[in-house]
Amino acid sequence: MAGIYIHIPFCKQRCSYCDFHFSTTFESYRSKMIDALCLELISRSEELKAEKIETLYFGGGTPSLLKESEFKAIFDSIRQNYQLGSNLEITLEANPDDIQTTSLRSWRKLGFNRLSIGLQSFREEDLKWMNRAHSAEEAKNCVLLAQSEGFNAISVDLIYGLPNLPQEVWKDHIQTVVGFGVDHVSAYCLTVEEKTLLHKKVKDGILKPSNDDEQSEQFNLLRGELKDAGYIHYEISNFCKPGKEARHNSSYWKGEKYIGIGPSAHSYSLLARRFNVANNQLYIKNITNGTTYFEQEVLSDKDRFNELLLTGLRTKWGVKINKLQDIFNLSVSFTDRLQEFKNSGQIEEIDGTLFLTDEGWLMADFIACELFEG
Ligand SMILES: C[S@@+](CC[C@H](N)C(=O)[O-])C[C@H]1O[C@@H](n2cnc3c(N)ncnc32)[C@H](O)[C@@H]1O
Ligand code: SF4
Repeated sequence: MAGIYIHIPFCKQRCSYCDFHFSTTFESYRSKMIDALCLELISRSEELKAEKIETLYFGGGTPSLLKESEFKAIFDSIRQNYQLGSNLEITLEANPDDIQTTSLRSWRKLGFNRLSIGLQSFREEDLKWMNRAHSAEEAKNCVLLAQSEGFNAISVDLIYGLPNLPQEVWKDHIQTVVGFGVDHVSAYCLTVEEKTLLHKKVKDGILKPSNDDEQSEQFNLLRGELKDAGYIHYEISNFCKPGKEARHNSSYWKGEKYIGIGPSAHSYSLLARRFNVANNQLYIKNITNGTTYFEQEVLSDKDRFNELLLTGLRTKWGVKINKLQDIFNLSVSFTDRLQEFKNSGQIEEIDGTLFLTDEGWLMADFIACELFEG
């Protein structure tokens, strides 16, 4: 069982908070990029020769900018070179401004059966400073349109911790999403990434993100409202109706194999991680010339132990102690630190599995780091 991620490094415009890999000036080389993605897909099929592909995920950047012919070329390279499972999940990250009846019909015809829509906020003033390419009205309408065109597996992305985001407004955003009846919600706390316009505006005192207390309150409100509406909190930033977990993303958190195609994409083979170059021209040039376009890191036992801990603790599945012990025996210092988190009520152990408690969720990354074997 394995998944394929395809990174489309194109965006219409630069959102002020985003530090993912993308370019906004790509028209002159877009066909070369599609050819390079197809070449990478073809050249790496050996890596998954023995595997059935269960999930395909087109992320970005903005994959909803691709033309039907460009998607077709990529799908052909996949179908001709990989063994696909019969219950394939095929997700497209789509931006509201690309969602129209014609595009939705084209995506359905191509085989997409799941949309992940980046709504972010329903407040016009937020969308403005974020430099989003869509309005609040479009954010609201696009989900209904996608549903009316037959997409019933829909995930929406929201961001909280925004500057000047009162609790009532955040609650209203959550209620709007609940009202859509979508089966999956991803909600991220705003990160002020260096080298973004947001970072500059925060430094210059023009924008002020929410403080830690406000962010915790917004996170707790999110959990409470979504739980009351029947959603399960299954990963720190992800919620779904029962049985509607994102299969592709869940495979990352469960430590399953995947390959990442495209500039900046990551791959994981259980024993090593690979990072494609985050530069569009270099990626195209090196793929075309047959020279190396990635870096590889062989994972040590400590890396595998720490990753299992970090990803597991962030999910409702927790971390099985015997899986940690399969990597190496638990050290005395690990056992001591774990006991401290149990005593403080942030971790609980049930039938040999470690879970974060309600208090622990808020500090997931800190707790995992404290438990890391260094
Ligand atoms: C890489 S983006 C791609 C999705 C798509 N291009 C879009 O704009 O909706 C994936 C998601 O990451 C989240 N994200 C990106 N930068 C973030 C930041 N600095 N803080 C919090 N969430 C962020 C957004 O919710 C976004 O929908
Ligand atoms: S948030 Fe999405 S659309 Fe905006 S710059 Fe990042 S990848 Fe592009």
